[in-house]
Formats: sequence, C-alpha cells, structure tokens
Amino acid sequence: MKLIHAKAEKNLLVLFLAVFITVSIGGIVEVLPLFTIESTIEKVKGMRPYTPLELTGRNIYVREGCYLCHSQMIRPFRDETERYGHYSLAAESMYDRPFQWGSKRTGPDLARVGGKYSNDWHVRHLINPRAVVPESVMPGYPHLATTPLKVDDIADHLKTLKFLGDPYSDEMIASARADIADQATPDADVDGLLKRYPKAAVGDFDGHPDRLTEMDAVIAYLQVLGRMVDFTQFDPGQADR
Ligand code: HEC
Repeated sequence: MKLIHAKAEKNLLVLFLAVFITVSIGGIVEVLPLFTIESTIEKVKGMRPYTPLELTGRNIYVREGCYLCHSQMIRPFRDETERYGHYSLAAESMYDRPFQWGSKRTGPDLARVGGKYSNDWHVRHLINPRAVVPESVMPGYPHLATTPLKVDDIADHLKTLKFLGDPYSDEMIASARADIADQATPDADVDGLLKRYPKAAVGDFDGHPDRLTEMDAVIAYLQVLGRMVDFTQFDPGQADR
C-alpha cells in the first residue's frame, strides 16, 4: 500500500486520476439523487405570487439595496427560530427573482417581519429609523414617502414573470394596474384582489390615502413577508400533499 501511495504521489497523471475519481464520488452522491425527484422545492400551501403592489415594493427593496444589511433566510438553528420564527422553507422564496436570502445581517432578518409592526411604525422607521429605534444605524429613506409610484409598466412585469414560470393568470395581468391602486386605497372594492391574492394586506400604507407612493409599495411588501404560509397548519412531513 505504501509503495502504491509513493508511486501515485510521484506520478502526476496517476495522482490526478486518483483525485478526480475521489472527488467525482462526492459529486455523484450529491447530484444523482436529485434526478430521482420531480422538484427540489416542496410545494407548500399558501404560497402565491406577489400582488402587483408587493412586487413593485420588492423591486424598490432591491433597488435601494436593503439586502446589503438584511437577510431573508431564517436558518434551522434554535437561536434563529426563537428570535425570528419558523425556519425559512425553500418554497417561501420560489417567486423571488432574484431571491433575497442575503449574506449580511447588519440589521435583523426580515423573512417574517410581516405583521410585526403597524404600517405607521414602518413609515416613521423608513423616514428616520432613529425616530423609533434611537440606537439604529439604518439609513433613512425619506424619499420613498415623496416619490410617486411608477405603475405603467406593471402588466409587462407580470407578463415577464409569467414567461419565466410564475403562475400569473391572464386575469391577474389584465387587472394589474387596477389591483395596484386598489390595494393601497382604503374602502376600495378588493374582493377580486383578495381572491386572486389571498392574505394580501390592504388599505392605506403610507398615511396618505390620496397618494400612491413608493412608501406604499415597500410597506405592502414588508407586511407580506413570512405571512403566506400558515405555520400553525404546516407539517414538514406533509409538505407536498
Ligand atoms: C446600513 C444597513 C441597513 C440598510 C441598508 C437597511 N437597514 Fe433596515 N435595519 C438596519 C438595522 C441596524 C436595523 C435594526 C435597528 C432598527 O430597527 O432600526 C434595521 C431594522 C429594520 C427593520 C425592523 C426589523 C425588526 O424586526 O425590528 C425593518 C423593517 C427594516 N430595517 C427595513 C429596511 C428596508 C426596507 C431597507 C431598505 C429600504 C433597509 N431596512 C435598509 C440596517 C439597515
């Protein structure tokens, strides 16, 4: 054995082949089982694509670089699940293009921030974080409150996501412009919207019911994070049924 080892170490080709075979075994063991399953993402009840308003808010979240300080992935460790809630499921980011898992937590994880604070808290926090959290190092985003939301390209946006595989129906695309306004308008008729997108938060988000701003969109997005899957009903063993 010693002799073979000595020979292999001195012969580049033999050494290369031995390394290649050894590394391949690791790769095959990891990759092969994936071919026997239909999908690597378990279907989970409750997941739906984002409403047009949430989607525009998500785009602003990406544009502003919120992911540079905030992750959206709760790892399956006790310290994380006790602080943030149930660990993140793959299905929870299945409609995220690109996903916002992040790799840096200057601020807390936001995967389950939906419903944690009122809309009013978010408005004050986003305009000036120190107004509500005195020791905060998060920058303020006051321009969100004054920038009108750009909505004219929303149907094309949904169409593109549909092309990539997101289940936006023709009805959702046709009503995208109306849905975006209805979701942020108090007392609007939202029956259709809620049927298309269950559990969407509706009403005024930015404190100015007469205006549709980027603040409305970002808060609508923050308020849905982690709220699509009902974890009181979720059983990991039954996830795909
Ligand atoms: C420079 C880093 C940084 C950036 C960029 C940043 N944040 Fe924060 N964020 C923080 C820190 C630190 C905290 C914790 C203190 C606080 O609540 O302000 C925080 C807290 C939060 C919270 C409250 C979370 C909780 O569970 O209490 C929300 C919501 C939030 N940020 C949203 C955003 C959004 C939306 C953006 C982008 C528009 C953003 N943040 C950009 C650092 C950042």
